[in-house]
Amino acid sequence: MSTAKLSLNGQEYEFPVIEGSEHEVAIDFTKLRAQTGAISYDPGYGNTGSCKSAITFIDGEKGILRYRGYPIEQLAEHSNFVEVCYLTIYGKLPSAAELAAFQKSLTYHTLIHEDMKKFFEGFPPTAHPMAIMSAMTVSLSAYYPDLLDPEVVDLNIARLLAKAKTLAAFAYKKSIGQPYIYPRNDLNYTEDFLHMMFAVPAEPYKVSPVIARALDLLLILHADHEQNCSTSTVRMVGSSQANLFASIASGISALWGPLHGGANQEVINMLEMIHRDGGDYKKYMDMAKDKESGFRLMGFGHRVYKNFDPRARILKKAADDVLDELGVNDPLLGIAKNLEEIALADSYFVERKLYPNVDFYSGIIYRALGIPTDMFTVMFVLGRMPGWIAQWKEMREDPATRINRPRQVYSGATERDYTPVTSR
Ligand code: SDX
Repeated sequence: MSTAKLSLNGQEYEFPVIEGSEHEVAIDFTKLRAQTGAISYDPGYGNTGSCKSAITFIDGEKGILRYRGYPIEQLAEHSNFVEVCYLTIYGKLPSAAELAAFQKSLTYHTLIHEDMKKFFEGFPPTAHPMAIMSAMTVSLSAYYPDLLDPEVVDLNIARLLAKAKTLAAFAYKKSIGQPYIYPRNDLNYTEDFLHMMFAVPAEPYKVSPVIARALDLLLILHADHEQNCSTSTVRMVGSSQANLFASIASGISALWGPLHGGANQEVINMLEMIHRDGGDYKKYMDMAKDKESGFRLMGFGHRVYKNFDPRARILKKAADDVLDELGVNDPLLGIAKNLEEIALADSYFVERKLYPNVDFYSGIIYRALGIPTDMFTVMFVLGRMPGWIAQWKEMREDPATRINRPRQVYSGATERDYTPVTSR
């Protein structure tokens, strides 16, 4: 095993170097403080590996994304979301029998307890559906035991995957004052979600296969993305042995932020603002480069991808295909493409290696599918659900897992004595 040498205060130290299966290299600092008395300092954890994981591999320089070794391009073209859920969580592509059993478990756990419908009554109609999703997800732990025997863990995984889309659709129906549409066992995952979203009791609703397939693709592309902000949050919370539902609910809250999953909603808000402003995208490009403006080109940039986000490439083509198939002519797509074209030739973006990320085109497709803008990040939740579950399961099954407890560099006041308020 190779080692890394560190010289500190005139002393030499050596630390093991570990190499991943894709040959990425890490210095093992698990004994850094014990040996040197010093800690590492890495705000935002951009240079820190929090765990070993076998779920997703990303190469940010080469624009590679693989779930359990399978390239995202192949899964996007040939697989479906339920199969990708199985692959992500259980580590292999299922046999036909395994897939059928998994699909059946998801089909027969879509209902939420009738008492949970009362929770929705407490939310105002204006409640953001991400607030509802986080609250309702943690509330599932009030109904289902947090037992760690594998049978129950697999059952709770199926419950969470199956009920998440029901909670999402119910949140939407609540926001528009329409009656809830219950899940149907004769529809597959995406068809059932679309039916619960858009059917009304008064007349039958036929799910468009084009829309169902487009949504399935979007969910596949969001399924996992290694140790991003929300997944790291799920691992952080789960490391205290909090239950699956509580851990995932914390991930939902982290995803909501506009710098993370909330970006897909912000991209559309940004494109609509540019459209209302006469489509003057060059003005907004200049603003994005001006730190004083406080404006960022939402859907651009990524902590890991420094060449291109493979998901954005797939979604850019899918946006053309889906809008063509649906006969939708959305001016926002043209604005998005113009923004991308001039950004990729602009030194500000090129020097900082800023490229469209997964959120840049996804919102345009969601719009074409009829998904309302404030439900976009909820769609990200549904897509990322298998990844969060897989990462939580891997963490809980890893004997090396310890409760996550980072250190700090203290920068506050040194010791001083208390003085009574009368003397201040
Ligand atoms: C997701 O981690 C994941 O894997 C996340 C995700 C997943 O699947 O889980 O991929 C999903 O969250 C995608 C990202 C969605 N967010 C956005 O689109 C919001 C806009 N993008 C950024 O705010 C930013 O690019 C981040 C948050 C994505 C990345 O932030 P970093 O890595 O901390 O980069 P940074 O903010 O330090 O930026 C580096 C430089 C800065 O300029 P300088 O100070 O060096 O001069 O690039 C600039 C930034 O000002 N910059 C941008 C910009 N993004 C970065 N300038 C204008 N517009 C932008 N979008």
